[in-house]
Amino acid sequence: MISIRAILKVVSLCLLILVQNLVVTEATEVASPKKITSFERLNLNNDLAKTPPMGWSSWNNFGVEINEQLIIETIDTMVANGMRDAGYIYVNLDDGWQRYKGSRKAHPLEYDPVKFPRGIKYIADYAHSKGMKLGIYSGPGVDTCAGYTGSMGHEAEDAAMFASWGVDHLKYDSCCSHVNESTEVVRDAFLNMSQALLTQQQDIVLHACHCGWTNIWEWAGDIGANHWRIGQDISDDFDYPDNREGYYYDVLDMIDRGVELHSYTKPGQWNDFDMLVVGLNGISKELVGAGASNIEYRTHFSMWALLSSPLLTGTDIRNLDDYTLETLTNREVIALNQDPLGLQVKKVKDQGELEIYAKPLSDGSWAVALLNRGSTTAVMSLHWKNDLALNWDKVTIRDLWKHQDFNPKGDTYNVEVIGHEAKILRVIKK
Ligand code: GLA
Repeated sequence: MISIRAILKVVSLCLLILVQNLVVTEATEVASPKKITSFERLNLNNDLAKTPPMGWSSWNNFGVEINEQLIIETIDTMVANGMRDAGYIYVNLDDGWQRYKGSRKAHPLEYDPVKFPRGIKYIADYAHSKGMKLGIYSGPGVDTCAGYTGSMGHEAEDAAMFASWGVDHLKYDSCCSHVNESTEVVRDAFLNMSQALLTQQQDIVLHACHCGWTNIWEWAGDIGANHWRIGQDISDDFDYPDNREGYYYDVLDMIDRGVELHSYTKPGQWNDFDMLVVGLNGISKELVGAGASNIEYRTHFSMWALLSSPLLTGTDIRNLDDYTLETLTNREVIALNQDPLGLQVKKVKDQGELEIYAKPLSDGSWAVALLNRGSTTAVMSLHWKNDLALNWDKVTIRDLWKHQDFNPKGDTYNVEVIGHEAKILRVIKK
């Protein structure tokens, strides 16, 4: 039977070919002062990632130090500790799985046979046998950020190779190869890979990673990407003064960077606030940063959930403490991230260090964060009629970390929020 997804892919490709022909025709026959660019008129859609992808990525803790044993142990642990069943199904190899460093002009793109003696298909099959999915990494340059061979000029060949291995997710990273390129050049680089993936039988989610440059949120969804980074790399910090090394964004920087981009998020297309640093505790082999406290990591996780960012945790899953596991697997908070409406929270109140974020959910209730960015405890008030424009006389307020219901009298809910904490609430009409 032909699936709807297959039909969509074919329609997308026909549209693409039609538009490309139109562009060529217009360029050759009409002397138009405005170049008609393909991205203004494409609507490529792989019909995947209807809710933000959840899983694990190797980069934040391990950098390029990855191998088959680590991946197999990570999969086994995620099955055993309940993460898979909480929704974390992607296990994503980031940079470092490749065999050769240097230019693609000098070397082919192959897996490293020392790190992955049985190949990538073996671990993809293993992931699938456990009800999980496998992700891989490449980029549109001649080499990648860590200096391994890239996919430039070999997009069709590489997409077919990833598909033949059974890969389910591709992080395609232009952060280092296309730093100063124009929007058009970057867009075309992603378009080449997106098209190549759409011709595969295998469903492959596309992460277009460009560090939030060229206003990527304005065009990446249109060329078939499912998520795109809204900023440069995260550091393992909650609130570091300025940017570490003038580059890295801490948790609060990242929220500020992306919170106004809410209109670009929808099912299948997500603003990506970067991989989680929950539980790294400042000892990552790869990331800079001093680490954060348990409550700060919980706030980070909660805010990523409410922002409908992909939830790709980066810590060593094999050594999680109980608190970190409880943070990552809070199903009531995960449900806000995976809500079918697919909205990103908006900041609805800004009182200096005290901020309120909110979004409606598919069941008619609202998700709310009361975020205390300051370092001392404060009493925060939610006045749902004013703050959320909800004309509800009686509500139940559910605290999703306490797992407790409150029935406020009047129309205000007051609660103490400690420094760097976010109270995560569901507001339900009674
Ligand atoms: C860039 C990306 C990171 C990671 C590395 C890999 O820095 O932003 O997330 O993928 O490349 O080299």
